[in-house]
Amino acid sequence: MTTLPTSENTNDNLINHLQDKKILLGVCGSISAYKSALLVRLLLRQGCEVQVIMTKSASDFITPLTLATLSKKPVLIDFIKNKEGVWNNHVDLGLWADAFIVAPASENTIAKLANGLCDNLLSATYLSARCPVFVAPAMDLDMYQHPSTLRNLEYLKSYGNILIEATHGELASGLIGQGRLEEPENIVAFLNDFFEDYIQKEATREDINTIEEEIYLPLKGKKLTLTAGATREAIDPVRYLSNHSSGKMGYAIATEAQKLGAEVTLISTSTLENPKDVNVVKIGSADEMLLAVEMVFQETDIFIFAAAVADYRPLEVATQKIKKEEGNDKMIIELTKNPDIAATIGAKKQSSQFLVGFALETNNELENAQSKLKKKNLDMIVLNSLQEKGAGFGHDTNKISIIDANQKTDFELKSKTEVAQDILKTIIEKLDLRKNPILEEEVKEEEIKKTVAPKKFEINKEEEF
Ligand code: PMT
Repeated sequence: MTTLPTSENTNDNLINHLQDKKILLGVCGSISAYKSALLVRLLLRQGCEVQVIMTKSASDFITPLTLATLSKKPVLIDFIKNKEGVWNNHVDLGLWADAFIVAPASENTIAKLANGLCDNLLSATYLSARCPVFVAPAMDLDMYQHPSTLRNLEYLKSYGNILIEATHGELASGLIGQGRLEEPENIVAFLNDFFEDYIQKEATREDINTIEEEIYLPLKGKKLTLTAGATREAIDPVRYLSNHSSGKMGYAIATEAQKLGAEVTLISTSTLENPKDVNVVKIGSADEMLLAVEMVFQETDIFIFAAAVADYRPLEVATQKIKKEEGNDKMIIELTKNPDIAATIGAKKQSSQFLVGFALETNNELENAQSKLKKKNLDMIVLNSLQEKGAGFGHDTNKISIIDANQKTDFELKSKTEVAQDILKTIIEKLDLRKNPILEEEVKEEEIKKTVAPKKFEINKEEEF
């Protein structure tokens, strides 16, 4: 249970956690009912909306008119407004409130609340309330210590209600002892304390949920280099040799890898729109692609070679546009081997680096893919076959098998985005990056940054009523 605030922090500049709170104030028959007027004023001053519900006997001690005027709302006493035939819906009231304070809570009402009796609007609303309920008793000292009272208060606490204990002092009977309604300033400060805890807990829970949802970044701290698109091998200043790769597969991987937290460098020939927050290096030929890849070789953790690289290029590139020769229907262009980018990187791969190649096959798919995996010293190869409908060049879909030294996993025909996710998921599993220590540290930092900054809480006791 929240402890009562000390006298110092009731009037100092505490933080106000009561702004816009909807408060039901249940007022019972007690000499101390006059204090509920002050309580209404203080709650309103903290930005609360207050709805007063009185028992009939409470109206013998303080008029509904006083509380209605102070709370700026009609006071509710009966289930039915007799003259107008309007029903005061206790269920709606119970659901409306952020907190229900019964202050003063008389012995009679405490007994009703503890035992589920609901013969008046206040006790019926109590049974319908889903919000936190605060009970602030006020009664004579012997009533307060009576076993039935103590038992009923224990019942209320066992239902999760919060007891604001009566204080010690002079009582209406003239006796001195415990039974005085807690001072309104302290009740407000008590509520404020409660909501401070409550808001903090809610905020922390929300932050953790958001962070958990938003930040699944297993590739955080990893540098990933991708090749994508069809290389263009110049024949002369206006013509080149190339293939049908659009770059879609590589761009999908770049996009998804960035979302998973990787720092992505995309070395590309494609004219597709650059993926968000990805470092794109535009090149044309296999030679240029190799140069760009080598420049980031040292710092790359994961390479994915999705480009369709021309295996051969013209041995010589004509400096002028090659003209048609009259009477000659044939033209021979001598080709020379291009560097194999994946194999070059594979040959000097460091133990911390992970290399993924693609195999685009038309026949002997598995055999060829396994051979490329080995020859190029790759850790994993993604096989896509032009035999499969919807797979390979240009499509928005692909159908792949992922092959490593030990196994082959086949996937359905999917969008290239989903294929990218499958590939990255496999890499994450192989590198055991699901519990990324860098990520866990960041989540903690985010939690600290996102603490709530609430408004000031001030009670000015000086103000006249
Ligand atoms: O771009 P899209 O239209 O979306 O099409 C996607 C794709 C079909 C191009 C892609 O999924 C794909 O299969 N890319 C690799 C195509 C290819 O060149 O495969 P390959 O089997 O010839 O080469 C094997 C591997 O070595 C590949 O990773 C390739 O990038 C790499 N390689 C090949 C030759 C070379 N000189 N250098 C290389 O790095």
